[in-house]
Amino acid sequence: MQEQLDALRAVFQEKLATCADSAALESLRVEFLGKKGHVAGLMQNLRTLSGNEKKDTGQLINIFKQEAANGIGEKAETLQSEALDRLVQSAKQYDTSLPSSKSLGSYHPITLVQRELEQIFITMGFAVEDYNEVVDDYQCFESLNIPEHHPARDMQDTYYLDNGQVLKTHTSAAQNAIMRKYGAPLRAIFPGRCFRNEAVDASHDNTFFQMEGIMIDRDISISNLIYFMKTMLSEVFQKDIKVRLRPGFFPFVEPGFELDINCLICGGEGCSTCKQSGWLELCPCGMIHPRVLGMGGVDTEEYTGFAFGLGLTRLAMMRYGIRDIRDLNAGNLKVLSQFVSA
Ligand code: FA5
Repeated sequence: MQEQLDALRAVFQEKLATCADSAALESLRVEFLGKKGHVAGLMQNLRTLSGNEKKDTGQLINIFKQEAANGIGEKAETLQSEALDRLVQSAKQYDTSLPSSKSLGSYHPITLVQRELEQIFITMGFAVEDYNEVVDDYQCFESLNIPEHHPARDMQDTYYLDNGQVLKTHTSAAQNAIMRKYGAPLRAIFPGRCFRNEAVDASHDNTFFQMEGIMIDRDISISNLIYFMKTMLSEVFQKDIKVRLRPGFFPFVEPGFELDINCLICGGEGCSTCKQSGWLELCPCGMIHPRVLGMGGVDTEEYTGFAFGLGLTRLAMMRYGIRDIRDLNAGNLKVLSQFVSA
């Protein structure tokens, strides 16, 4: 048997050395290690042996089988890196001195609106902060006065990860970390991508952008909140926009409001974007709940504050007259190339 295996090994090594591509390597694998290959044939013959002879021969065949599998694995890696080298070499043959394509691309409308808003808030003394898209339950809910099993969790159908973390459902998830980072007094905005398991329609997507803002200081009141909301909207739209403020429930603000704007697609007549209501929910807001301030390490005897959660994607729709939110995430160049860089 040892002799038979040595002969087989020599044939295998010779064929392995001449394999020039992955197809040839696969044929070699099937020939030696496949269900009907040489190794399987040798194993079949073991049945005719007995006792110790069977055991010893089995071991020899297994050693060869392992050698062949290793040889094939190493050869596969070599072939792969050679193919990559060839690809790199061919890429080097591009003429980099050729003039570039005329189409230079453009900023996404959400980026444009986000930048505009950042400038507006920077001039009003706000810092611009960034935050994670994957957050933990404490950040997304608990620190916002939404304990486990609280019915308010049903308002946001959440994507949970296997490790217990969640895809941020709202930019409010950063409030606690930002309060802890800066302490009071504080003015900050933090735009970000949010994710919810939503039924998608003209004004709802499962991935969308919000921009959160918080202002914490001595004697902050609802008047300050309304002033900042009005200033922001008139700066963005450069005209008077009809808004309405109505009571809204969010466990992290008290009192809380829904700020809707008159739908700019239909002028308030009613259309599919505003679900025939003439109004679009844009920017819920309110006075930060003392428990939320306390969890953020803010002294509630001394400070109060407001917070808002602007629907940035919807604002971009209103700003640019985009009727359907799905156009914004579809990567449709016909839509996106209409927006020139700011
Ligand atoms: C919130 O997410 C609260 N965190 C906002 C908030 C912050 C309230 C601070 C009070 C104080 P809401 O789920 O309503 O609230 O979302 C806020 C805005 O995000 C909506 O008004 C809307 O403009 C936008 N929005 C919400 N869901 C979607 C969606 N699926 N697609 C597009 N935009 C959405």
